[in-house]
Amino acid sequence: MSEAAAPRPATAPDVRVWDGLLRLAHWSFPLLIAMMWWTAENDKWALHRRIGLVLLGILAFRVVWGFIGPETARFSQFVKGPGAVLAYLRGDRSAGPAIGHSPLGGWSTLALIGAMLLQVGLGLFAGDPFDGMTGPLNPLVGVTLADTITDLHEAFFNVLLGLIVLHLAAITWYAVQGNDLLSPMVGGNRPPMPGVTGIGPLPWRRAVLAVAVAAALALWVAFGAPPLT
Ligand code: HEM
Repeated sequence: MSEAAAPRPATAPDVRVWDGLLRLAHWSFPLLIAMMWWTAENDKWALHRRIGLVLLGILAFRVVWGFIGPETARFSQFVKGPGAVLAYLRGDRSAGPAIGHSPLGGWSTLALIGAMLLQVGLGLFAGDPFDGMTGPLNPLVGVTLADTITDLHEAFFNVLLGLIVLHLAAITWYAVQGNDLLSPMVGGNRPPMPGVTGIGPLPWRRAVLAVAVAAALALWVAFGAPPLT
């Protein structure tokens, strides 16, 4: 999580923390996960499958963006070893980057992205071909294994929910401490910080590449992952 807001000098510009695509991906998560839950509760399986594939594409984008996106999107910037996490927990704010995820926030980001990927991944193989809708990769596994995967897919949603509740509790806890993490995740900027310039403009070419790779992957999976040769 980023640092507490410093008093704003009159002329200093705001600091850009999060790029637009990362924020778009982020806000799609609560929306799509709510839709996934609703479609499952109401037996709208065709829609559940389609939204799941959209979520897969967005998650794939976020993973690619973690390698070629702006500095604050990169895993190399925010995934730190236990030493940095412990130092951060002891109050050493220099253990993490000036802007972007703190060493602790970095791990919670990995946990949330990993849990969503696992949940979507299980869904791809879930279902029973003799009784309703299946994920697009269901034919690649036997009926018995698909059955176990379906149970796991259902159960793991509770783990994902638990992580989301923790995530919201952490954001609220920081807000209570006077550290507003929400505004930068909405508008992209935070108040000025001495000596910190923030991320630059969106790297469009790399953004197109990341979106293209993610869309291609989601489409390939949607067609049942046919052999590429
Ligand atoms: C399904 C629900 C949600 C999921 C799965 C989720 C997931 C994530 C992930 C993966 C990140 C890391 C961003 C990145 O690097 O890509 C993040 C950051 C963040 N999320 Fe969420 N989020 C959810 C809901 C929310 C909601 C409802 C709020 C606001 C109340 C929120 C506020 C934030 C904020 C402020 C950050 C930035 C934290 C920081 O500065 O380190 N999230 N979220």
